[in-house]
Amino acid sequence: MNTFVIQGGKPLCGTVAVTGSKNAALPILASSLLSGDKVLLKEIPALTDVKIMCEILSVLGCRMDQKNVNEVIVDTRKLNHCIVPYELAGLLRGSILVMGPLLARLGQVQIAMPGGCPIGARPVDLHIKGFAALGASITTAEGCIIATAKKLHGAKIYLDFPSVGATENIMSAAVLAQGDTIIENAAVEPEVVDLANFLCSMGAKISGAGTDTIKITGVTSLHGTQYTIMPDRIEAGTLLVAAAATGGCVTVTNILPEYSKPMTAKLLEMNVPITMGENTISIHGGGALQAVDVKTLPFPGFPTDMQAPMTALLSIARGIALVTETIFENRFMHVAELCRMGASIKVAGRCAMIEGCNHLTGAKVTATDLRAGAALVIAGLAARGDTEISDIHHIDRGYAALEKKLQQLGADIRRK
Ligand code: UD1
Repeated sequence: MNTFVIQGGKPLCGTVAVTGSKNAALPILASSLLSGDKVLLKEIPALTDVKIMCEILSVLGCRMDQKNVNEVIVDTRKLNHCIVPYELAGLLRGSILVMGPLLARLGQVQIAMPGGCPIGARPVDLHIKGFAALGASITTAEGCIIATAKKLHGAKIYLDFPSVGATENIMSAAVLAQGDTIIENAAVEPEVVDLANFLCSMGAKISGAGTDTIKITGVTSLHGTQYTIMPDRIEAGTLLVAAAATGGCVTVTNILPEYSKPMTAKLLEMNVPITMGENTISIHGGGALQAVDVKTLPFPGFPTDMQAPMTALLSIARGIALVTETIFENRFMHVAELCRMGASIKVAGRCAMIEGCNHLTGAKVTATDLRAGAALVIAGLAARGDTEISDIHHIDRGYAALEKKLQQLGADIRRK
């Protein structure tokens, strides 16, 4: 069951609901460790990455109680371990997000260097610098990062780059620190805001999340809570792009349209008619797609996680498009696979030049990482003929039952 087989060329049609955000669920699950009580999380997406994070919490001593497919109770009252082994940390970049909460709650943490999609070097220096500023001693040994602190204290921290993970990790550590912490040049991504809202629902004192300056006033403990994870703006974007690529008419529901603006603005520029509702976005495809240039940037710029899906769409647009990837240094691995399907794309450093073609043709291709896999699904849906995508475990890391949602919209896609 490691392959998607797609018979392309069918316009997607209908309505589909977006699930909870992977990139909000992971830091929120990790930050549940800060609570001294039970935390009920709703709209948790059923993804491999989330499953791994839940395993990590279990290994640390939390009791995980799956209420139903999208709800989990994290009971941290017996949290007693501070070591995240390589076997788990190596599977998931987001594993680093338990570092701040463990440091704040237990005063120590040992974690193997995190893994994740092979899209670049992905260092964790900004996380480490932040913890050091909060008073932690940090060493590395045998592939592990070890951090200890009797009591963290507030600090003023300027991030060299508005890293999403570093902002989340430092913010989570600082909520139990003594005194005030200010994070400058913080990431402003909606998932950072969702994490801050979650932490505040447990009694944390945070202001400014969603701006580049976040202020955290430390408290002595956090209580339990119930919290609903925000909808996944990247899943929404992927479905919208799939609809546009097939010339279909699709409404995605259960989303926060405001957060999808960087994406919908580009689709509008490509001549794809779009209607925004309060919690919905509808796309009315079928017209000629116009090439546009895309540059990935921190929010509210165009999201790097949508670069690969957008590249697939631009490969069948009229004209020449320039896609520039400024966030990760190795995020064009989908290009070679798209070219197998007839796309005309040249990569030079961090830029890809796409000459739109009339149509793609089905082929055997490989998903090299999560969003590259999503791009190939989109290409396969739009292509003439059959596409077989292998290594789809990458896709399962970040999309909950993607093929079921697409089948619901009339796609001919199955898992083999
Ligand atoms: C998060 C998302 C990921 C998304 C990315 C950018 C999660 C679980 N993942 O990843 O889907 O693509 O944001 O929107 O939320 N960097 C450093 N040093 C650090 C940290 C980061 O140099 O200590 C660099 C990275 O190598 C990268 C850039 O900063 O080039 C952005 O990374 P970051 O924002 O931290 O992404 P993640 O939090 O890993």
